[in-house]
Amino acid sequence: MKKLTFLFILLIAAVFIFFYASGRFSPGTQAQQTADPVEEFREDDFQTEEDRLEESDSSEESTTDSEEAETALDERDQQGPDSGLEDEGSETEIEVPIPGTEEYYKGVTVVDKPDHLTVLVNKKNVLKSDYEPSDLVKPEVFAPGRSEIEMFMREEAAEAVLELVNTAEEEENLEILPASAYRSYDLQTIIFKNNVSRKGSVEKANETSALPGQSEHQTGLAVDMSCSSVGYQINSSFGDTEEAEWLADNAHRFGFIIRYPEGKTKITGYNYEPWHLRYVGKDTAKSIYEEGLTLEEYLEKQ
Ligand code: DAL
Ligand code: ZN
Repeated sequence: MKKLTFLFILLIAAVFIFFYASGRFSPGTQAQQTADPVEEFREDDFQTEEDRLEESDSSEESTTDSEEAETALDERDQQGPDSGLEDEGSETEIEVPIPGTEEYYKGVTVVDKPDHLTVLVNKKNVLKSDYEPSDLVKPEVFAPGRSEIEMFMREEAAEAVLELVNTAEEEENLEILPASAYRSYDLQTIIFKNNVSRKGSVEKANETSALPGQSEHQTGLAVDMSCSSVGYQINSSFGDTEEAEWLADNAHRFGFIIRYPEGKTKITGYNYEPWHLRYVGKDTAKSIYEEGLTLEEYLEKQ
């Protein structure tokens, strides 16, 4: 009899182990077992980009959903900082010059005062990969549905963007909201890599998207603005809106410049971006606006 009871318990245990291993007793466990967070992030991001391409042929910056991006970054952290883009098991191997390597620093200058309000960050002046501003805060306003990890700015710039948003509303009843602000080196790596996949080459992606270390977003002084009529997306469709027109005429009043103006690609290194504002302080912004300069040209004259 004892033997029979023992065999019965053994049978129950075997059935339980079978169901547990196949995940039927624990949906949470099953989800964790089957989902590769990095893959999921990438696929969803591609879908977003495809949707956006349907809306506009010349969509610009790749954007990320907060949770997916956070998961992707967590994954990268776990792998270590040198885990490398190629470790993510991409179908297409993407060669991106990695800051810190000899190749990346050929012919570029490493920015020595990254906290300065008029710091120049471009394809020739690069930030160290570990640079992170010390006074990042979340502006009180941000576009709905946009990524949480991109919602931070340097304190002074965050106050200025709030003033801009409120004034646009008060004066013209326009809602213009920040959609992407501070981006860490790691996040820019993910965004740039996605843009390379979408556009087909590093060169093509680099017309509108900065390599990690070369993005002003890493300074906490840059912010992409958007509005509801374009679904708070960051692409060239924003350029046709009343809100973009107001920004071009008024951003300087709050210390911002349109950093990549039309017709200045040879100087800035990037195509026209009507949404990308860069905080430089009110006096500098006024001079740049009134003289029709880029930041590169303005600094050259100093
Ligand atoms: N779109 C600008 C150049 C950036 O990626 O920082
Ligand atoms: Zn931008």
